[in-house]
Amino acid sequence: MRTQVAIVGGGPAGLMLGRLLELRGIESVILEARDRGYVQQRVRAGVLEQATMDLMDEVGLGERMHAEGLVHEGVELRFAGESHRIALKELTGRAITIYGQQEVVKDLIGARLASGLPLYFEVSDVEVDVAGRVAFTHQDERHVLEADVIAGCDGFHGVCRPAIADVLTVYEREYPFGWMGILAEAAPSSDELIYAHHERGFALASLRSPRITRMYLQCEPGEEPWEDEAIWDELDRRFGMAVNRGPIFEKGVTPMRSFVVEPMQHERLFLAGDAAHIVPPTGAKGLNTAMADVYLLAHALEAFYQGDGSGLEAYSRVALERVWRVQHFSWWMTAMLHRFGSDDDFGLKLQLSQLRFTTTSVAQATALAENYAGMPFRATW
Ligand code: FAD
Ligand code: DHB
Repeated sequence: MRTQVAIVGGGPAGLMLGRLLELRGIESVILEARDRGYVQQRVRAGVLEQATMDLMDEVGLGERMHAEGLVHEGVELRFAGESHRIALKELTGRAITIYGQQEVVKDLIGARLASGLPLYFEVSDVEVDVAGRVAFTHQDERHVLEADVIAGCDGFHGVCRPAIADVLTVYEREYPFGWMGILAEAAPSSDELIYAHHERGFALASLRSPRITRMYLQCEPGEEPWEDEAIWDELDRRFGMAVNRGPIFEKGVTPMRSFVVEPMQHERLFLAGDAAHIVPPTGAKGLNTAMADVYLLAHALEAFYQGDGSGLEAYSRVALERVWRVQHFSWWMTAMLHRFGSDDDFGLKLQLSQLRFTTTSVAQATALAENYAGMPFRATW
């Protein structure tokens, strides 16, 4: 088998890259380890930055997002028992949209299959080599795919990053806590997202629709999800109000980590999204950063097929500039909002001071808003 771009991983990064290439007349094959149902049901991110929304429009897939997504022009920071609004739109001209990652994935898979382009689910034993060959098993048959370029979009636990581990430098930070996330059949308790600082730990109120609540609680990193009642009681405490309750239909604990590898490319293998970097979810940046990577990579590939390889050469350097901005913001939000130890009262006082400053200084609020609503995607090098 031969193609121009072999895409390993059918998550948001791989699927969006496939779509961007399709629209540029560049061939690709997408290989995904899981089945379609699993990929479409996997509950993860919910916040789309302005640039991600614009990208969905650009690739002709914005219709359902506009119909079902909820545009938010601000977010709330809650601390010391009071809420303070950060007016994203007013401060930056940009907004965010609440639209589940699995909805983005459904839209992208639907478009790929409608175009009749190759997307193989349930592949196994994927092996990549940097000369541009990908070996894999599909329906009990072993195949070798030869490509000009391999896009490693296979997430944090994939095979592409390990294949070039020898040439990579890892930058990493683990946090001494995780997030317990729930989805519940309950009306959201607030019109806008609430990021709550509390001496018992961080809490986040989000939503998926006017009837579905999404909430998170800071917890121990490897903890089993608590009983429903215990979760609701703790949410009430941390938000300082009685949140709307309803049947919980999804619960999970996410570890918190900052992680970057450099460079994001070696020979013909290019890493994008979680394969190359992870952020703690506090800034809602993971999905959006994956989109920023593939936007740049698609433009660099377009230039390459027009005879200009400079974009591919610059890919890692240019992508990493944005990646590190996002890393800093996610770390900063995490550090400002979480309890780092029940005895760390000095840290707590610093956080409260930083939160007050952020909600009273227009300059500081604007800095948060710019980062949260997201930097424009870049396709120049
Ligand atoms: P993935 O989504 O991990 O996709 C990689 C794909 O590759 C997967 O489908 C996987 O099955 C496949 N794969 C793996 N190995 C192989 C292999 N060997 N061969 C073929 N395929 C393979 N981000 C935000 O922006 N906002 C949020 O609000 C947010 N909340 C989050 C909440 C949770 C609970 C979690 C876990 C993450 C959250 N994130 C959030 C992060 C976001 O979900 C990820 O950054 C995003 O999924 C990255 O997309 P990706 O395509 O790079 O990787
Ligand atoms: C959601 C997740 C996040 O990580 C975040 O910062 C905000 C919202 C969510 O799943 O809705």
